[in-house]
Amino acid sequence: MPALVLLGAQWGDEGKGKATDLLGGSVDYVVRYQGGNNAGHTVVVGDQKYALHLLPSGILSPGCTPVIGNGVVVDPSVLFSELNGLNERGVDTSKLLISGNAHIITPYNVTVDKVTERFLGKRKIGTTGRGIGPTYADKINRVGIRVQDLYDESILTQKVEAALDGKNQLLTKVFNRRAIETDQIVEELLTYAERLRPYVADTVLVLNKALDDDKVVLFEGGQGTLLDIDHGTYPFVTSSNPTAGGACTGSGVGPTKISRVIGILKAYTTRVGAGPFPTELLDEDGEALRRIGGERGVTTGRDRRCGWFDAPIARYATRVNGLTDFFLTKLDVLTGWDEIPVCVAYEIDGKRVEELPYSQTDFHHAKPIYENLPGWSEDITKAKTFADLPKNAQAYVKALEDMSGAPISAIGVGPGRDETIEINSFLR
Ligand code: GDP
Ligand code: IMO
Ligand code: MG
Repeated sequence: MPALVLLGAQWGDEGKGKATDLLGGSVDYVVRYQGGNNAGHTVVVGDQKYALHLLPSGILSPGCTPVIGNGVVVDPSVLFSELNGLNERGVDTSKLLISGNAHIITPYNVTVDKVTERFLGKRKIGTTGRGIGPTYADKINRVGIRVQDLYDESILTQKVEAALDGKNQLLTKVFNRRAIETDQIVEELLTYAERLRPYVADTVLVLNKALDDDKVVLFEGGQGTLLDIDHGTYPFVTSSNPTAGGACTGSGVGPTKISRVIGILKAYTTRVGAGPFPTELLDEDGEALRRIGGERGVTTGRDRRCGWFDAPIARYATRVNGLTDFFLTKLDVLTGWDEIPVCVAYEIDGKRVEELPYSQTDFHHAKPIYENLPGWSEDITKAKTFADLPKNAQAYVKALEDMSGAPISAIGVGPGRDETIEINSFLR
């Protein structure tokens, strides 16, 4: 059982934090491989609730080493406030490792994210405003600042200067803002250097050695498949690769080491921010899903858009990630509906289309074709086995499995660790 990937199969917020935490007790390393503090992962342990943004959810399992891989973008001020918050609650965070190659979200990247969104007006993406896009843009433009740069002041100064050169032109001439001083940024970044130092490591070497020693490594995705920069609903996406391939590039572990890819799949669909969403409900059913499911963003506090389950999306996630399993979450939220519509295909410009269209225009025009499945009214939050579920809930799960293209190996019936029905062990 070498490496596993756990990722979002829809538009994020599927329950990745809970699933990662559940496995955290049985794995040796939990690795974030992309994204940054745009993520909001909720973990409920007993009566304690944790909201993690940048730190891997494995940080709550004492035996587990949490790793921030090279593909992640790190805002040091957020990192330290998250570490402080956990330390105050008695969580030991000393095992954390951070790749020296991870890129830093600088204050100017946060500024550029916010002013760009404002400038886009009604065409905005609805980003989390955490500087994610501009930081990845700097990385690709080869003017990014990496964690290791904090340990060479002269290099750091040169790099910040290069990064600010173009940005200050943009800020002053296009966005009508004040220019940002290199010295001020360098000074702020240097204040983080010593506190960061004990965590900085050659994580590629650490992870590959761990795998050579038969340790179990779990990769925890942020965001979700349809927010992927390559495979998502571009341009309404995040600026990294949450899909399975990102686990390799974002960590320096080769694909031959990965044996399982688990898609976290909500029993209905949600999305935060702008962009197409065929099964979105703007009626009282959508309101009910939001209320019962507690669908409010962990990071920005925005209401999540809610809709019925979309099978073409699940099949697409199976395909682009090579999923071996699904972890179906929040089945309990659907308790109480007489009938539950499930989108089985789309109607696009009068034609029935079975799969997610590759064309953005077609996806914007896609209307869901629903099949109504019978609902259930019994409380399922205490169910421990599949057989404990009412017959109609079992049939709902089986129907989703048949439509989605990979086995459902676990089912979430509540936010707590123990509110899970495990059908097949992920660690077999
Ligand atoms: P993530 O970003 O994928 O980690 O998901 P979030 O934490 O943003 O959102 C998922 C929400 O659903 C959190 O509030 C979880 O505590 C909660 N949750 C996870 N699994 C279940 C489940 O099976 N049932 C219910 N009712 N809540 C769940
Ligand atoms: P977790 O890990 C849901 C969305 C934002 C916006 C788009 C781009 O909790 O599932 P960004 O700030 O990344 O440039 O914003 O992506 N988004 C998420 N939506 N869950 C997340 O993370 C998200 N992270 C980013 O709302 O539409
Ligand atoms: Mg979330």
